[in-house]
Amino acid sequence: AVADHETEFIGAIDCGTTSCRFYIFDQWADVVAHHQIEFEQLHPEPGWHEHDPSIYCAEIDKCIEACLEQFEGKGHSKDQLKGVGIATQRETTLLWDRQTGEPLYNAVAWPDARNASNIRDIRARAESTKFDTPDGVIVGEEGIRRLTGLPLSTYFSATKWDWLKENVEEVKEARKRGTLMAGTVDTWLVYQFTGGKDGGIHITDASNACRTLLFNLHKQSWCQQLCDFFDFPPEALPEVVSNSEVYGVFRKGHLLEGVPIAGLIGDQQAALVGNKCLTKGDAKQTYGTGCFMLYNTGTDIVKSTHGLVTTVAYKMGKEGPLHYALEGSIAVGGSSVTWLRDNLGIIDHPREAGELADEVPDTGGVYFVTGFGGLFAPYWDIRATGMLIGLSTFTTKHHIVRATLEATCFQTRAILDAMSKDTALATSSSSSAPNGTSEEKKKEGEEKGPAGLKVLQVDGGMTGSDVTMQLQADILGIDVRRPTMRESTVLGAALLAGGALGLFGWDLSRPETLQKVNRLKVSTFSPRITEEEKEWKYAGWVRAVDRARGWKT
Ligand code: G3P
Repeated sequence: AVADHETEFIGAIDCGTTSCRFYIFDQWADVVAHHQIEFEQLHPEPGWHEHDPSIYCAEIDKCIEACLEQFEGKGHSKDQLKGVGIATQRETTLLWDRQTGEPLYNAVAWPDARNASNIRDIRARAESTKFDTPDGVIVGEEGIRRLTGLPLSTYFSATKWDWLKENVEEVKEARKRGTLMAGTVDTWLVYQFTGGKDGGIHITDASNACRTLLFNLHKQSWCQQLCDFFDFPPEALPEVVSNSEVYGVFRKGHLLEGVPIAGLIGDQQAALVGNKCLTKGDAKQTYGTGCFMLYNTGTDIVKSTHGLVTTVAYKMGKEGPLHYALEGSIAVGGSSVTWLRDNLGIIDHPREAGELADEVPDTGGVYFVTGFGGLFAPYWDIRATGMLIGLSTFTTKHHIVRATLEATCFQTRAILDAMSKDTALATSSSSSAPNGTSEEKKKEGEEKGPAGLKVLQVDGGMTGSDVTMQLQADILGIDVRRPTMRESTVLGAALLAGGALGLFGWDLSRPETLQKVNRLKVSTFSPRITEEEKEWKYAGWVRAVDRARGWKT
């Protein structure tokens, strides 16, 4: 037990797709210091998306340095920082060499679609493969889905590996030598922070592992059948740990030398924890580079039949049960706004998007399907394209910007509809809720909106725009609730690290005790348009998506 709570702080890293940040929280989980840096995106070919692996730690270290300066400026000292939690973008794939600790290629980022043309071959190969699943032997992509909860898509790590193993000489050689190490961004960061080739630890957590297509959701471990199918050497995979325990300490010579790393989790799952969505039926949506809705299904693995993925939610402590979620993944969220800035140059700063959109009452009939690298949930169409439709001489940049903001909101509606159907099936099926507590069951019986939600809890950068949140409430027809501290991902990572170290006064073995930590103030956006208008607008989106689908050959 910690004697003097007043002297203890927790740090949290969030390494997202386009930016990273470091936050320091006090014992009430209130923010004491924070710093954020946007980092370079590499697009060497159309559809390719890479990061230089060295920038992750370099930029995070700059954030840590800036934060420590603020922290010390407030009269605190570094030794009061008791631990650090880490949340990361998921699926992004890194390969490096055990002997040198050096990357063998750039990090292939999750939106990278270079392997789209091979997905058809992988699918065909799956058709002649028998997968031993909990539902019996199943052939084809469905077998993979039963094991992993995922469809075959360029999004997930093993399809990126499929390209790397064929095309990168250094990878082939390291594999032959037996020195290949693999991981997602979480794995790479922990390896680097704990010493790299000089004793760095090689771990991941289940919320990241389950996004690789190599993890068996049911057995909660790496899957030999899938390693065989993707021709992946299992010895290159990291050990899978819980989300909340002390894994190791920052290496000698690092700014945070000796500070324990005590939380590790995928960013979307971190936001689920940060939003305290810890009960079956709770959901949140995080608007980052992409946009992701997670719906907590408790300890049940709920299979989607409407285009969602089944994913790990969290495991609090070594002994804690693994919780699962249904996820609706939207590939392009905030990145549509940065695209307006960087590619079209019609705004100088993301915050201008809301201002421009607010100057017109509607989009003037414009729809923007932001399927830059195909469409993810619930469509899963790698042949879909980005498409602006409904243009006329009346159209101005204001309409285009408004249509950009609406695009994420419409996809959210499509996902909520899918959640509704999947969770209705799950709660009506007798086998689906064996572990629900009586409180959870009572909640299930209450009056419900879509997917049992009367309110959508939101967080992330794009939620800073009131206009976007109002559009979202209008398009969904339910209230949208935004906390004042919108960085739920870092908060989640901090809470997990604090839990492992006995800080914040919550008990890992009783996650419900987390509810009383840091009750954030919220703003609520309620629908302002009629049901008829809502459905009419959404029908236009459905028609637009139909046109964008199947475009690429
Ligand atoms: O699955 C990708 C996701 O983890 C990326 O998150 O916040 O960078 O959009 P974000």
